[in-house]
Amino acid sequence: MGELDDRVAIVTGAGRGIGEQVARKLSAAGARVLLSDVDGDAAAAVAAALPGPAVVRSGDLTAPGEPDAVVAAAVDAWGRLDIVVNNAGYAWDGPIHKVSDEQFQAMLDIHTVVPFRILRAAAPHLREPAKSERAAGREVFRKVVNVVSLAGVMGNAGQVAYASAKGGAVGLTRALAKEWGALKINVNAVAFGFIDTRLTATAEDAGEVESGGRTIKLGIPAAARQGAEAATALGRSATADEAARGIYYLCSPGSDYVHGQVLNVSGGLQLGMAG
Ligand SMILES: NC(=O)c1ccc[n+]([C@@H]2O[C@H](COP(=O)([O-])OP(=O)(O)OC[C@H]3O[C@@H](n4cnc5c(N)ncnc54)[C@H](O)[C@@H]3O)[C@@H](O)[C@H]2O)c1
Repeated sequence: MGELDDRVAIVTGAGRGIGEQVARKLSAAGARVLLSDVDGDAAAAVAAALPGPAVVRSGDLTAPGEPDAVVAAAVDAWGRLDIVVNNAGYAWDGPIHKVSDEQFQAMLDIHTVVPFRILRAAAPHLREPAKSERAAGREVFRKVVNVVSLAGVMGNAGQVAYASAKGGAVGLTRALAKEWGALKINVNAVAFGFIDTRLTATAEDAGEVESGGRTIKLGIPAAARQGAEAATALGRSATADEAARGIYYLCSPGSDYVHGQVLNVSGGLQLGMAG
């Protein structure tokens, strides 16, 4: 018996990094998992290694209609939806004087618009059963977790587009928590500091992501990696597994009374300005 037996979860960006580890934890706890990623081969490899049922949806989430198709794929497979983890993302950084309209919009698209569209598509599948349960006097908690960043909460030089977009997702989280609280749909966010994934690898190791019809080179300078570790109270970056534990907590019954929060999973990284 797992604590998420019978639950159906969507994890976006599940092909690698933090999303992969979230999919593994949800599956190990008994959930059936829909893995969405633009890199379908990577998501399929993760799905094949999960202990429980899994479905892969390969597609660019910024394409119109893809968020709706992701939700439909989960509901078609298993007839219900209980957990949504909006995790897919990437960074396209630069100081403001070098950020193009296209770049700024691309960050809004993947980090703010996609979670909005996923949650709008998920709404009937989360809300309608919750209304029936409420009418029957039963409390059943469902879960939404939006993956944001300390950059979106405290700001980070060189990340005006990324930080604006993650900040938008914080607003989405807090507003939706107020809309859906009465239905016992917990809506929370996790703000990460410095997690060792492709996103934070050095430029030589990071590779590229295909999103919005373009190929974006990933990675950060080695000096930025050292600076982030030095500014982290725990003195090191986190593994993707450590990061995923924060998300898992907000998907699990242990967090049923945690609502409308941004949980910092950062090892005490301080970017200097807090809201
Ligand atoms: N790594 C960090 O230090 C850090 C810090 C703060 C926030 N985050 C956030 O955590 C989340 C996961 O990032 P990660 O570090 O695991 O990176 P990652 O590159 O290892 O994984 C991200 C996954 O998202 C997928 N993806 C990206 N764009 C997509 C699109 N348009 N459609 C579908 N899939 C898409 C990628 O293919 C990839 O598999 C992101 O939202 C990121 O912004 C990461």
